[in-house]
Amino acid sequence: MPRDLSKSNAHFQRAVKKLPLGVASNFRYWGEDRTIYVKHGRGARVTDLDDNVYVDYRLGYGPAILGYADPRVDAAAIEGMKVGGVFALSTERELTVAERISKMVPAAELVRFSNSGTEAVMAGLRLARAYTGKDDYVILEGSYHGLFDAAMWFTPMDQWSQVGDPEIKPYSEGVPVSTRSFAHFVQANDANQLEEVFKRNANRLACMLIEPIMGNCLGIAAEPEYLKVARELCDKYGVVLLIDEVKTGFRVARGGVQELYGVHADLCTFAKAVGNGYPISVLAGRERIMRKLGRGVAHGGTYTAHAVSMAAAEKTLEILDETDALKTIAEYGTRLRAGMRAVLNARGIAHSFVGHPSMSGLYFAAEPPRNYRDWKSSDYSFYDAMARVLHDEKILCEPDSREPWFICEAHDESCLKDTLAAFEIAVDTTLQSGSVSVDKVSA
Ligand SMILES: Cc1ncc(COP(=O)(O)O)c(C=O)c1O
Repeated sequence: MPRDLSKSNAHFQRAVKKLPLGVASNFRYWGEDRTIYVKHGRGARVTDLDDNVYVDYRLGYGPAILGYADPRVDAAAIEGMKVGGVFALSTERELTVAERISKMVPAAELVRFSNSGTEAVMAGLRLARAYTGKDDYVILEGSYHGLFDAAMWFTPMDQWSQVGDPEIKPYSEGVPVSTRSFAHFVQANDANQLEEVFKRNANRLACMLIEPIMGNCLGIAAEPEYLKVARELCDKYGVVLLIDEVKTGFRVARGGVQELYGVHADLCTFAKAVGNGYPISVLAGRERIMRKLGRGVAHGGTYTAHAVSMAAAEKTLEILDETDALKTIAEYGTRLRAGMRAVLNARGIAHSFVGHPSMSGLYFAAEPPRNYRDWKSSDYSFYDAMARVLHDEKILCEPDSREPWFICEAHDESCLKDTLAAFEIAVDTTLQSGSVSVDKVSA
């Protein structure tokens, strides 16, 4: 049955009168006739107001690692609800969750909680600045670390002419220009450039902020040697290595990207998968740095370590640590890649998969990108056109090619079958539309 969005569209017309763009986050607005309003999510599927049932690979940008409404986590959350709310006091469970995080991530010697990834990274940068007594930071082109001023300088690659360096712009109006000078942009996987930046700014750098698998940029992965050099440079120049694991944490491995690469951060941040969707984030790291919290560095918030989120996190992390959930997720991701690859190869469409099978970027060029600039020369317009057809076929991926496909434990055989059938239709429809060109593997 063709997708009917009449109820969602009618709701949009009402919502837009009260909510800017009719939604609660700019990213959720997909146009007045394509914005989706959710009725509920179960497992790996989401049902909208029109009763369209989608296989979901967005998972709320990653959090639902076990699937929506996971009964094990929800039962724990209900127990958390019985605790009674927030008290501006601590509960015992914070320690249990912190101990689990330290067990899974060795660099997480001490732990503080907050509610969103943005809050955790913002606190991490502040702590790094306080610890080093410096203000500047190194940041990678294409990275996303949340919506706070320091993280809102970026290189709008879609506007880049592919000559010289891309412009650095604020991601939003309202970001003070005075915050610009603190950020030093580098390209992923260029160790020489990184060394230059460290050398030139040694007395100003507080922090290197890095997402070794870029969860908002196709899953572009740091090469192991690059991350090793980054670690060494941070040690040499007394710079805090802040590994942002908001998307990779408790997803790409039990110990996150740090376990995959065998690299330890000074500070690291987590959110998303920690609570299977209940709002919680984590700033963790080396004791010598973390002890500055409360000894000169402010950190807190009315809702930090909410009893419901803590209970959900306790159960989610227990499952991720003690069961094969992550193996199941990676295996599904690998099979999904293989199925998509077969469809694309059969049509001679050059492509590659980027990142980790649990959060795959689909890239339309034969060689995977090493940095964000490479994305510009890929055929991302094919992806963008194809994504719209996938939505019509009830497969939810982000409309923008830079967002990876997230897998959860609840993605099963039926999801795979539905996805690959829809993928084939979407690829063919996009090819037939003739409005986009794709690189062919061979003539
Ligand atoms: C790597 C990374 N850091 C930080 C954030 C910000 O997290 P939040 O949206 O929870 O504020 C995100 C969000 O997607 C992220 O992917």
